[in-house]
Amino acid sequence: MTDPGKQPVPIVRLVGVEKKLGRQRVLRGVDLEIRTGENMVIIGRSGGGKSVLLKHILGLMQPDAGQVWFRDKDMAQLTEEQMVPLRKETGMLFQNGALFDSLTVGENVAFPLREHGNGISEENIRAEVTRALKIVDLPNQGSKWPSELSGGMRKRVALARAAIAKPALMLYDEPTAGLDPIVADSINKLMVRLGEELNMTSVIVTHDMVSAREVGDRIAMLHEGRIYCVDEPGVILASEDPIVRRFVNGISDASDAVF
Ligand SMILES: Nc1ncnc2c1ncn2[C@@H]1O[C@H](COP(=O)(O)OP(=O)(O)O)[C@@H](O)[C@H]1O
Ligand SMILES: [Mg+2]
Repeated sequence: MTDPGKQPVPIVRLVGVEKKLGRQRVLRGVDLEIRTGENMVIIGRSGGGKSVLLKHILGLMQPDAGQVWFRDKDMAQLTEEQMVPLRKETGMLFQNGALFDSLTVGENVAFPLREHGNGISEENIRAEVTRALKIVDLPNQGSKWPSELSGGMRKRVALARAAIAKPALMLYDEPTAGLDPIVADSINKLMVRLGEELNMTSVIVTHDMVSAREVGDRIAMLHEGRIYCVDEPGVILASEDPIVRRFVNGISDASDAVF
């Protein structure tokens, strides 16, 4: 967590980010600062642009207008080559992020190091995989196959894979979707612990208010293409604003009913 009295440069800053996809103005001027070390939760209705917002932070999508800053760098000004070190600082747990079924758990976790590790030795890779599996409470499971694991365990393996390169920034897209409440709770606790142990900043996109309250240092609500409000969970949950209340209480329109 950060001391609000001494604000360093935010790790990520979105300024007036606009993005049209097809005919839809998905992002209509998003302003958001992610402070170094915080767990920022982003909530908002389904189809509201949360995954699109994460893709901008990851550099997978570029804004039509506005900027995405990573520390002191405007990402749009960087060449593909200059993006490489920056990408290494960011880990992502994709929505429905699947494991490779033809690789063991250990090989899955090792994958980012083998892909981008720049000649890191097999011995070091093995040590890192052991460490990562221990952090996600799956010690000695490296030789198993993904098909032998439960949904919650697979999610934790995906987490270990996303965190293996010790990114400064970790992005989670709906990490608890489709999990039962008990498993979801263990993933919530794990995200908090991982952030502390690896000294990461985390951005967690969710429509799950239990998760938001449990994990968030702050919660930002994306509504109609803008950040409608951002504050500590207690403030958001106690908000009397009808739009916030409607979302927090889950009394939202029919398009949310799929969840
Ligand atoms: N690559 C794309 N091309 C066209 N439309 C897209 C693309 N990605 C997302 N969208 C649309 O943008 C809107 C926001 O999507 P998304 O960010 O996935 O919502 P959320 O993650 O909040 O549920 C949706 O209407 C979706 O269909
Ligand atoms: Mg999404």
